[in-house]
Amino acid sequence: MTRPGEEEVVANLAGQAGGADGISIEKVGHAFPTKDGGSILVLGDVSFSVPNGQFLAVVGASGCGKTTILNMAAGLVRPVSGRVRVGGKDVVKPLRDTGYMFARDGLLPWRSALKNVEVGLEHRGVPKAERRERALKMLDIVGLSGFGDSYPAQLSQGMRQRVAIARTLAINPATLLMDEPFAALDAQTKLALQAEFLKIWEKDRQTVMFVTHDLAEAVSMADRVIVLTSRPGRIHAEFEIDLPRPRDPAEIRFDEGYLRQLDQVWHALKEAEERAG
Ligand SMILES: Nc1ncnc2c1ncn2[C@@H]1O[C@H](COP(=O)(O)OP(=O)(O)OP(=O)(O)O)[C@@H](O)[C@H]1O
Ligand SMILES: [Mg+2]
Repeated sequence: MTRPGEEEVVANLAGQAGGADGISIEKVGHAFPTKDGGSILVLGDVSFSVPNGQFLAVVGASGCGKTTILNMAAGLVRPVSGRVRVGGKDVVKPLRDTGYMFARDGLLPWRSALKNVEVGLEHRGVPKAERRERALKMLDIVGLSGFGDSYPAQLSQGMRQRVAIARTLAINPATLLMDEPFAALDAQTKLALQAEFLKIWEKDRQTVMFVTHDLAEAVSMADRVIVLTSRPGRIHAEFEIDLPRPRDPAEIRFDEGYLRQLDQVWHALKEAEERAG
């Protein structure tokens, strides 16, 4: 048995006192340096949290800082001001149980699908036999059993993105950061992957921060949607999506409640962009 370190005890206490689990973005401001020696203000005083097990979608105009927020939660960018915590702890480096997924599948072309799914497990020192077993199981879950030996170039874009989902989930993440993960897919494949991902998520309920430009995707998948203003990104509006689960993004498209919430989010985004001029 290991004794918890002081840091862990403090983090646990903070968690109990303030509900600091999940993802917590606290008064975060950020600017990047520009080539002419100036700086560009990207985020202005943004605060929100994603409780454990919630699926949050973030929408907002291009350049308003969505990817920057994800990068902060991933430990890849440190905020100029404010605080970013995941699981109650300040994020100062990438965390082992955080998965990050992008529109680009990012598969290694010289590795088979199975070996691609194993990448994160290798980094974490998981023994070979266990790695193989977990990777095979994940490929099966995303509907790719039998394709383990195929190389990325031999797979369709939808299949490659399925491999990327399997790779992200193989590390058994408590937190999932997703940056337009289905943006590069055709409409039909996109709906299929949204549905498959939701099915998996509705069982495991990881804490999710999901960035998208597709409002239908945001409303059909998430528990809550945050609308950011144009740069510098601030919170413009927030919506609880109280549609029942399990949900199927293809089926829900004609649901009245869904259409009403989609309309609200659409108007909020339009207003946020108009206000920015
Ligand atoms: N490393 C960097 N150095 C300098 N500027 C950056 C850097 N990363 C992002 N930016 C700038 O910060 C702003 C926000 O970028 P970010 O990628 O977070 O936007 P976004 O909301 O994800 O946009 P999109 O919807 O187009 O993906 C942009 O103006 C971008 O040019
Ligand atoms: Mg982005």
